[in-house]
Amino acid sequence: MDQFLIRGGSRLKGKIEISGSKNSALPILAACMMAEGKTTLKSVPRLSDIDSMLKLIGELGCHTYRHESDSESTSGGPALNGPLDITVTDEKVCEARYDIVKTMRASICVLGPLLAKRGKAIVSIPGGCAIGDRPVDLHVRGLMKLGAEFHTDNGNIIGEVRGRLKGCRMYLGGAQGPTVLGTINVLCAAALAEGETVLVGAACEPEVVDCADMLNKMGAKIKGHGTPEIRIEGVDKLIGCEHRIIPDRIECGTFIIAAAITNGELELKHCNLDHLIAVNDRLEEVGIKVSRENGTIFVSSTRRLNAIEMTTQPFPGFPTDLQAQLMALLCLSDGMSVITERIFPDRFLHVGELNRMGARIRKEGPTAIIQGVKELQGATVMCSDLRASAALVLAGLVAKGTTRLDRVYHIDRGYEKIEQKLIAVGADIERVRG
Ligand code: EPZ
Repeated sequence: MDQFLIRGGSRLKGKIEISGSKNSALPILAACMMAEGKTTLKSVPRLSDIDSMLKLIGELGCHTYRHESDSESTSGGPALNGPLDITVTDEKVCEARYDIVKTMRASICVLGPLLAKRGKAIVSIPGGCAIGDRPVDLHVRGLMKLGAEFHTDNGNIIGEVRGRLKGCRMYLGGAQGPTVLGTINVLCAAALAEGETVLVGAACEPEVVDCADMLNKMGAKIKGHGTPEIRIEGVDKLIGCEHRIIPDRIECGTFIIAAAITNGELELKHCNLDHLIAVNDRLEEVGIKVSRENGTIFVSSTRRLNAIEMTTQPFPGFPTDLQAQLMALLCLSDGMSVITERIFPDRFLHVGELNRMGARIRKEGPTAIIQGVKELQGATVMCSDLRASAALVLAGLVAKGTTRLDRVYHIDRGYEKIEQKLIAVGADIERVRG
């Protein structure tokens, strides 16, 4: 297994190009299974989770081809990834096997598209996860309301549709609020259902909007995406289209915090600050300056970091996927900060590792109380999940001495070329091949 060796203390300065969004690309790749003809996706990041999704839709009869480079890249930075063509060539297989689902929970995204287009879906039930329980009951409930029938067998969810799915008005929220991938699953299915579907309590995340935008290019009739009430007028078929994936707001937020924690100055290209409005709000209070010009974000920080309070919330609130990274920053703030995790109340595996680096964090239920310290020290720490790992990289960048990060495959799931991007702006980080 690869490791990262990070020698802390470098001030980051320079430009970083933000990749396309992993969490947008994954469900969009699954949605491509519903289209007739070729779909071309641009800005799909090269990540191990994307490879897993490509393998899955490949097994489900899609032919995929990645072009060499993106001719529309005008940034002068590193060439963007080449466009990805997806064409459905065989609709016989309807099963997402455990071998793939266990490596990537986002495999559940094929459920809605398979039911809507092929009338049948067998998806291995995703098991536990490092960030807590992650049930899929809301996905199944929403699809049942559209008329799909479900049973479980041998660890699989088996769904079938007699005739065609039928649109209806439904409430999609759960105890923890809206569900992002659940909204996308039901939205996809409703796009090909008979009649109108109204999703009340839908997730408003930019990734939901991106998927709906692509479906509309394919001929779907979706309105209201980006609000809690989405209206979908079902159509008979969807036709392949061309679509560029939105920039990765979580990668962007992580690099904003990288600039802040190293007291650096970064220019982040290809981002949408509107997708980070709550993050910007909290960081301003910490003392970080974030400004934008067209699609570029400029970040600078002061040496003194203020302690703050933050609660994770569904969009447009502060995203759970940046909670760990913000915590790394607040470890060095002047005073006591409080972070409450409302989406995944157990998502705190980074706390113990940050404490091993000299942080002073105490966890009380879904809340972490962070007493700022003067410095962090390098240590050997272990990655437990994607965003916790990103937090440890950030801590390593500023820690005194060397930080050795084990199990960086977690980072490779969601951050494209992270060490190359950081080295280019002055970080001292090395990948040690395992
Ligand atoms: C997406 O997961 C993201 N994954 C996660 O990113 C992200 O943390 C999460 O949304 C929240 O923003 C992808 O996009 C691939 P949810 P998702 O359904 O859709 C509960 C990362 O690091 N819930 O919005 O699976 C659930 O337990 C990852 O990139 C149910 O109760 O999350 C949670 O408390 C990790 N029943 C809340 O809803 C359900 O059927 C929100 O989860 C579904 C969810």
